Amino acid sequence: MSKNILEIYFSPSGRSKKVSKIFSNELVGEIKEIDLFEKGEPKEQELTKEDLLVVTLPVFSGRIPNLCVEKLKKFKGNNTKAVAIVAYGNREYDDALLELTDLLGKQGFEILAAAAFITRHSIFSEVANNRPDEDDIEKIKKFARECNEKIDKNEINKLDIKGNRPYKEVKPSPLMPTGDESCIDCGTCVEICPVEAISIENPRETDRERCINCTACIYNCSTNSRGYHIEQFKDIYNKFKTDNAKRKEPEIFL
Ligand SMILES: Cc1cc2nc3c(=O)[nH]c(=O)nc-3n(C[C@H](O)[C@H](O)[C@H](O)COP(=O)(O)O)c2cc1C
Repeated sequence: MSKNILEIYFSPSGRSKKVSKIFSNELVGEIKEIDLFEKGEPKEQELTKEDLLVVTLPVFSGRIPNLCVEKLKKFKGNNTKAVAIVAYGNREYDDALLELTDLLGKQGFEILAAAAFITRHSIFSEVANNRPDEDDIEKIKKFARECNEKIDKNEINKLDIKGNRPYKEVKPSPLMPTGDESCIDCGTCVEICPVEAISIENPRETDRERCINCTACIYNCSTNSRGYHIEQFKDIYNKFKTDNAKRKEPEIFL
């Protein structure tokens, strides 16, 4: 019997979506997609016990993005099976996967499986730049096949997800993208920003109160104007690159 799969992701710089697609394409069933990056609240939805939910989110400061927490509350399960995936930039995923599985549990989902995969660091883009690579892709596909088997056998076991409660505190970041003199006022960043932190009057500036530093404006800027234009960035970048040079490997909870 074919399953209805709801695939949800948030992916400002594209790599979480890539992981989600590789995973979901190996699943058996009919897929509907929801992109949490889209502005506005998603429609409330209730899933049945026979459905499957797949959620893939990036790790922001060892947590899942707050904006996604609020949006995910619109989805209710009825002991619906769910797969939780986080994508992180080779530093650590800290409490993000635990936070995601806790949240889904509270929303009425049963965690079938969970995983953390490594993806390019969207701020320090030389870190894990080519990931997910061929090895990762094989692991993501294998993980999906194992989920198919678990669904077939109707197995659910308690998973010991890595992480701590209370979750890691998120400290305000000194980093926030702005535009420089190469900005041509095209308005793409204004349009794309998921939290309306950039105004059409002066797209070189960013509203610090609103900005979640998701990097979407940087990756979508046609003139490479958006970036971290502060003096210390080069030093912060080099230190981060050195500290996080050692390759991490995917972790699977089944
Ligand atoms: C604000 C912010 C905070 C981040 N925090 C972490 C982190 O704590 N650990 C880590 O390894 N990567 C971290 N990253 C890197 C992202 O998790 C990684 O680049 C991910 O692939 C981004 O997903 P996307 O390509 O779908 O946007 C952070 C990125 C951003 C933008």
